[in-house]
Amino acid sequence: ETPLRDLADRHGLRMGVAVSSHLLDNARYADIAATQYNSVTHENSLKWESVQPQRGQFNWSGADRLVDFAQANGQDVYGHTLVWHSQLPSWVSNGGFSGPELEQVMEEHISTTVGRYRGDIDYWDVVNEAFNEDGSFRDSVFHRTLGEGYIATALEMAHEADPNARLFINDYNVEGINAKSDGLYRLASSLLAQGVPLHGVGLQSHLIVGQVPSSMQANIQRFADLGLEVVITEVDIRTSTPASQQALQQQANDYRTVFEACLAVDGCGGVTVWGVADPHSWIPDTFPGQGAALPYDDNYQPKPAYWAMHEALGGG
Ligand code: G3I
Repeated sequence: ETPLRDLADRHGLRMGVAVSSHLLDNARYADIAATQYNSVTHENSLKWESVQPQRGQFNWSGADRLVDFAQANGQDVYGHTLVWHSQLPSWVSNGGFSGPELEQVMEEHISTTVGRYRGDIDYWDVVNEAFNEDGSFRDSVFHRTLGEGYIATALEMAHEADPNARLFINDYNVEGINAKSDGLYRLASSLLAQGVPLHGVGLQSHLIVGQVPSSMQANIQRFADLGLEVVITEVDIRTSTPASQQALQQQANDYRTVFEACLAVDGCGGVTVWGVADPHSWIPDTFPGQGAALPYDDNYQPKPAYWAMHEALGGG
């Protein structure tokens, strides 16, 4: 069978997977990540609390490990993430910084991190989850201290650190056309009008079986029409566990729908699934009683969802 990454290459599509660096010791896990995907995203080890747990103390061990893995396997790396309210160490969130001080803290973090991987990480989620469900800006230390301008500032800083990197804003529940994606659309339009270096938007796509938004393709299209790249950055499609055969079939249809929506729009550059296999997914911890959300099952065997992706990419 042709691996997904070879099928994706034919479409010029990045077919990605989120990887936990420490799980690369697991041979079956590492083998799937290497053979099926042409792009990888750090599931946790590039986040602020991992990279800079104390001010000025940078720890690259987890992040480097996956970047090395990607290079060994001829994969792109999608950098996740620079500015986010979550997994943010308390020295930042409770630091009591003034505006200029917090900008300095952001500058140190962004220029050091993006600069270190300049030429190795070509895509960055610069700002993650900046919105509330109603499309207004989420409260965070960044928004509280700097106002919405922190987003443009972060993008400028990342661009300065690597002028060739493609810079994204990423969020969840923005897959269909709704109040939240309208907020993202307004922000993206206004940043582009101001000449801020924004190259794309990431639609995380943490979805529920049977509930892929019907406006997903139209939503991807409207961002592409702004001249932006759209990436499906974190797809998983959860259901109650143990999953019934019927749910797994519906899940396969749902994965197919997501791929078809991306493939139908020229500006859609990639799809990343949020984990290698079900046993390591974040879902059961966060939504007890739910899971089975990924294309590989508890025994690292491909599920109907895998074959739906394969088919959607033209693999038959
Ligand atoms: O590494 C520690 C371990 O030492 C400790 O014993 C254990 C006990 O709880 O925790 C481990 O850290 C966990 C970490 O994942 C690594 O497994 C954290 O508790 C846990 O909170 C963390 O969860 C991650 C979550 O982001 C945090 O917000 C998930 O793995 C990760 O999949 C998830 O990913 C996010 C994206 O970054 C942004 N979009 C939503 C997505 C799902 O929440």
